[in-house]
Amino acid sequence: MQIFKNIKSLQYFLAEERQKKRSVGLVPTMGALHEGHLKLLNQSQKENDITVCSIYVNPAQFNNTDDLKKYPRDLDHDQFLLEKQACDVLFSPSDKEMYPEGNLNGIKLGFGKLEQVLEGKFRPGHFSGVGIILSKLFHIVNSDKAYFGQKDLQQCSVVRKLIEELFFSTQLVIVPTVRENNGLAMSSRNTRLSEKGKDLAANLYHAITKVKNLIEEGEKIEVARQAGISTLKEQPKIRQEYFEVIDKRDFTTAADITPKSEIAVCVAAFVEEVRLIDNVLVFS
Ligand code: PAJ
Repeated sequence: MQIFKNIKSLQYFLAEERQKKRSVGLVPTMGALHEGHLKLLNQSQKENDITVCSIYVNPAQFNNTDDLKKYPRDLDHDQFLLEKQACDVLFSPSDKEMYPEGNLNGIKLGFGKLEQVLEGKFRPGHFSGVGIILSKLFHIVNSDKAYFGQKDLQQCSVVRKLIEELFFSTQLVIVPTVRENNGLAMSSRNTRLSEKGKDLAANLYHAITKVKNLIEEGEKIEVARQAGISTLKEQPKIRQEYFEVIDKRDFTTAADITPKSEIAVCVAAFVEEVRLIDNVLVFS
C-alpha cells in the first residue's frame, strides 16, 4: 500500500495511474476503521482499478469540541487493516495540509432545507464542514466513484447535492449499513461504549425496525412513529434526540404513503453520553 500525507505527491501518483487508464475509487473516512468502512473499501476494490482510502478527522464538521477531542484515533491499526485488505492507497493528511489557513475562518457551504432537519438541525455547521472536506477530497483525488454508507443517510443526500451543484464528475455509490450481531450499526464511536452500552444501543435498531414493520403492515406513519418512541422510552438510559419518519428524497417528514414513497425511519440518541445515529429504509 502506498501512503501519502501530502496532496501534491498523491496527485502525482494518481496522474500516472490515469495515464495507464486506471479507474479510481475513493473511500473517505475519519479512521478508527471497522467492518462498515471495510465493506465500502471492498466494493470500491471490486469496481475500480485503484482504491484510495482517506483518513482524516475533519475538525470543520464537529460542532462539539468535546466530541472532536474524544473521537477515536488509531492510525497504526487502521493502516494494518488497510494493508490486510490490500488497499492501494492511504491518504492521511495533517490539519495543516487540508486547512493551510486554519479551518475556523474558512468558507461555509449551505444545503438549504436539507440541513435544517435531523442531523443538520442538531449539529449546526456539520454539513458545511462535511461538504468542504469532501469538495477538497473530490478535487484532489478526482475519483470515478466515491463510496458512502447508508448508515449516514442524510450525509448521502448532502453528497448527492454537492456533486450535482458543483459539477463533480465522481459517481456516488451508497453501501448498506453493516451491523453487529445484535443489530447495532457499526460506528467508530461504538468503541466509547461499554459492553452493556453496546447491548443497550442495539435498542435503537430494534425500535426503528419496529416502526418499519408497522408501516409495512399498513399502520399509519405517525402511529407507528409514536410506537417506536415509546419502545425506546422503556430504556431510561437512552436519551432520544430525534425519532423521525422522513421522505428520503428531501428529508421532509413523511405524512402518507404514496406509490412513489421512499421512506426511512431515522433516530439519534445518546447512550453513555455517546451520540449514535441509525436508520432503516421502509419497503426495501
Ligand atoms: P466516518 O464516520 O469515518 O465514515 C466513513 C464512511 O463509512 C461514511 O460514508 C459512513 O457512512 C460509512 N460507514 C460508517 N459506518 C458504517 C456502517 N456501519 N456500515 C456501512 N457504512 C458505514 O462519515 C464520515 O466519516 C465523514 O463525515 C466523512 C464522509 C469522511 C467526511 O469527513
